Amino acid sequence: MRDKIEKLLSEVEQLAAKREQEVEEIRIRLLGKKGSITQLFDEFRNVLPEQKRELGQVLNSLKIAAVNKIEQLKEMLDESMESEGSAFDLTKPGDSQELGSRHPISVTRREILSIFSKYGYEVAEGPEIEDDWHVFGALNFPPEHPARDMQDTFFITEGDNPILLRTHTSSAQVRAMERISLPIRIVCPGRVFRNEAISARAHCIFHQVEGLYIDKQVTFADLKQAVLLFAREMFGENAQIRLRPSYFPFTEPSAEVDVSCNICGGKGCNICKGTGWLEIMGCGMVDPNVLEANGIDSTQYSGFAFGMGIERIAMLKWQVKDLRLYFENDIRFLKQFETVV
Ligand code: DAH
Repeated sequence: MRDKIEKLLSEVEQLAAKREQEVEEIRIRLLGKKGSITQLFDEFRNVLPEQKRELGQVLNSLKIAAVNKIEQLKEMLDESMESEGSAFDLTKPGDSQELGSRHPISVTRREILSIFSKYGYEVAEGPEIEDDWHVFGALNFPPEHPARDMQDTFFITEGDNPILLRTHTSSAQVRAMERISLPIRIVCPGRVFRNEAISARAHCIFHQVEGLYIDKQVTFADLKQAVLLFAREMFGENAQIRLRPSYFPFTEPSAEVDVSCNICGGKGCNICKGTGWLEIMGCGMVDPNVLEANGIDSTQYSGFAFGMGIERIAMLKWQVKDLRLYFENDIRFLKQFETVV
């Protein structure tokens, strides 16, 4: 019996396995119900009492050696599986993840804001749900004034100072004049709402950036220069601007700004409808009534304001022909603008 034990012991020491199943087979062969070590334990019952002590010890150490060996084989297999990646094939090409891209309206808004931030304008925002005073009253739209019809409004409540969805970001000017001490130099981006039927050229939700500069001795020449610098950064260094007289209740004088058509360079094409010019924003000198309504002494201070539609600027920059594309979230459209890295 002693020989058998020693033979098995040297066998156990040399055991090796390449697969988990082989380890299991070894376990059954040695320690299973009919395994060779199990059989030795059966035989051990018949060993003479005076040999029991000595043989018992070697038999037990054989069993311990076998159990340890099997454990060790399993661990080695696990480790080599990890390093060879047999469960996961690390050499396979990965499934690449699609990168998102910024929405063209965000791209344009960020560009507009970054241009103005270089000239010292700070970003100031206001609420989308506003009251009549901030959207109209403080901006020199008297009650019942026909200028209110220029912006068909979604009202939320009725009464003297109804709650409504802002129709322009000019309301953020008013909030800024209430909050910020002079001088003020801000740009106000945001969403605006008008009761308009949705078409290629109009939408009930769109985005604007409003600008406001108030200080001592601000002049129309300053306004013109600010608009020119913006147009050149946005549409290229050869861009020209022209100002056409216009009307807004909150500015006097008021103007509409055209930029030379960046497609035909001013010669006339179907984008600029043959005129060579594209309208980009409204602007003007802040009406003294607006300054006074917001507690600013109009004999000491003057200012200019401007407002532009972000969709419109983006359309002109990339020749997007239909406003609805901005809201449909068709990935083929959205992917063309900027990839976020
Ligand atoms: N609030 C005007 C609109 O939505 C745009 C505008 C025009 C803003 C002239 C201005 C401005 O600040 O001076 O149509």
